[in-house]
Amino acid sequence: MHKPLIAPSILSADFAKLGEEVDSVLSAGADIVHFDVMDNHYVPNLTFGPTICSALRNYGITADIDVHLMVSPVDSMIEAFAKAGASMISFHPEAALHVDRSIELIKQHGCKAGLVLNPATSLSVLDYVLEKLDYVLLMSVNPGFGGQKFIPGTVEKTAHLKSIIDEMGLSTRIQVDGGINKDTIKDVYLAGADMFVAGSAIFGQRDYKKAIADLTQQFK
Ligand code: DX5
Ligand code: ZN
Repeated sequence: MHKPLIAPSILSADFAKLGEEVDSVLSAGADIVHFDVMDNHYVPNLTFGPTICSALRNYGITADIDVHLMVSPVDSMIEAFAKAGASMISFHPEAALHVDRSIELIKQHGCKAGLVLNPATSLSVLDYVLEKLDYVLLMSVNPGFGGQKFIPGTVEKTAHLKSIIDEMGLSTRIQVDGGINKDTIKDVYLAGADMFVAGSAIFGQRDYKKAIADLTQQFK
């Protein structure tokens, strides 16, 4: 059993003071920093690129930076984010030309590799690659925006994936992303997820420590 990790999505942070925001959530108990990279092509929204990642490293952020690529093509961004200080990189199979090659590329750069499944994407895309992945990100909303409502079918999908991982004797982590808050986190935790991305549920609160404690409380 992995230690459950809380990964605040900086998509909901105040970009005008991003360094301070990331410092604050980490001191408030966050484990890793989730970076939602959107290209207005694979998803209908535009966020930030690798320069923001290297800027946070230069600012002194040492926690793991978890880059969720919602871009197409993916390989050039894998290289750029790895060089910019990413620790973990995940991408969507629909956005990649050669899924296996992109996974290998992430690992060649010394980063942990994840594959992201949209709500309507079948677990069967993991056939032949699950053994190579450090984590699988199950989207619990459609990608593109923060602040959406959790899609309940994610709970059963998480349990199904967890049973496959256990049957295969793997230690792959399961990350869930979208609509995670104190009311939705427990069911996916009990189903086997162990990394929880939360944007609005953390950055939308004034007290980040309380917001994170409200989430981790649900693990008890
Ligand atoms: C959606 C992003 C999520 C999003 C989560 O495409 O991948 O990480 O920022 O935001 P909340 O927690 O507000 O749903
Ligand atoms: Zn994300």
